[in-house]
Amino acid sequence: MKIAVIGTGYVGLVTGVALSEVGHSVTCIDVDPSKVEKLSQGIPTIYEPGLEELIKKNIVEHRLSFTADHKTGLKDAEVVYIAVGTPQRKDGSANLDYVEQAARDIAVNIDKNIVVVIKSTVPVGTNFHIRDIINQNTKNGIHVKIASNPEFLREGSAVKDTFHGDRIVIGSEDEVAGDILEAINKPFNMPIVRTDISSAEMIKYSSNAFLATKISFINEIANICESLGANVEEVAKGMGFDHRIGPDFLKAGIGYGGSCFPKDTNALVQLAGNAHHEFNLLKSVIEVNNHQQTLLLNKILSRFGSIKGKRVAVLGLAFKPHTDDLRESPALVMIPKLAELGADIVAYDPIAVSNARKQIDVSIKYTEDLNEALKKADFTVIITDWPAVKKIDLSLFSKLMRSAVVFDGRNCYSLDAVRKSSIEYYSIGRPDHTPELIG
Ligand code: UDX
Repeated sequence: MKIAVIGTGYVGLVTGVALSEVGHSVTCIDVDPSKVEKLSQGIPTIYEPGLEELIKKNIVEHRLSFTADHKTGLKDAEVVYIAVGTPQRKDGSANLDYVEQAARDIAVNIDKNIVVVIKSTVPVGTNFHIRDIINQNTKNGIHVKIASNPEFLREGSAVKDTFHGDRIVIGSEDEVAGDILEAINKPFNMPIVRTDISSAEMIKYSSNAFLATKISFINEIANICESLGANVEEVAKGMGFDHRIGPDFLKAGIGYGGSCFPKDTNALVQLAGNAHHEFNLLKSVIEVNNHQQTLLLNKILSRFGSIKGKRVAVLGLAFKPHTDDLRESPALVMIPKLAELGADIVAYDPIAVSNARKQIDVSIKYTEDLNEALKKADFTVIITDWPAVKKIDLSLFSKLMRSAVVFDGRNCYSLDAVRKSSIEYYSIGRPDHTPELIG
């Protein structure tokens, strides 16, 4: 099948590359010529394990190309995917400007009836809106059919998730369009859920909202555990054995971030509001998460009183490991607050430092060397559970820091290991450990 994909962000690029890998002929279109130039040379514009090899391979085998010109990219395409961003507006709703622009670009550049697939996360009703924009702007009575095909890939494992996901959702009102999309996706060998367009749009928002709810739920349980002397990890483990609950997404921590959960939960609250439904449960999920992102700060202040002039090692900037993405990362909340309180900050991240420099406007030091960050620090704050941080020998904290006080937002270490070490340790939903207490 000859396919065009508009947008080469996480979703568009991974989708385009995966479609080429299973044998389709794919042209990815992006308005940014510098991105197109890099990608055409096989250089990925995002960090995603396994992606570079697939880009190179499929370029060499002539199934994958990139262009900044819509006319070239859409020429002969039988199916066009829209995978541009839908960022959050100030009021929480999804900004559809880029999707609408893609629709207009499609309309003026196609010369036959095609299927348009919306991959971007869009509010219920948007697929029809986009179909109408395209059909109102085409020439010679050309009409497109529309289908919704939301993505469920996670950053950092996007390639793996695309080939080994749990399901593929196809929403269509037209059987032919749905059948075409099903045929395109058959090589991925995953369960395919066929449904109507509005339900497909809703499946995406509801899935993300449910996962965010699981995280905020366990974070609330963690906070109660702290007050009652229980251990949230033991609680989550015990809960997870119940197959109706499941063990995943029950890891308590410093709160969820990223490009999807914060944006999609806000958009769903907004969407519900438009339908005169107050989504109180999801509003609480968001509120719990906002609170969770600053929880460590209270622990730091009750431990130290003032942190003015204290040197702090912040471990991790990305919103989660295996990505250089800082969008909605707890680091963006914690670092300005620590700086405001007068701390002298050294931030470590193995790959997100250059993105952090663009997004953090307080003056701090950055390093990609973990030891460098810990050197002479008065306390450490763990934001991202990078493997390098998780597998640290706990004696390194005592060896390198001025005082080995660790505030762990990701519960990286077992309490057994901590108890055997000489660090002072505060984590989420688990008993604190202060060496004096055992001495
Ligand atoms: C998410 C969804 O998983 C994916 O299906 C959707 O398409 C896009 O949004 P992503 O944002 O890449 O993917 O990351 P994910 O791995 O889901 O983690 C999101 C956030 O939740 C991270 O900040 C992570 O640290 C946090 N999280 C996750 C927890 O705090 N606890 C958990 O148990 C799981």
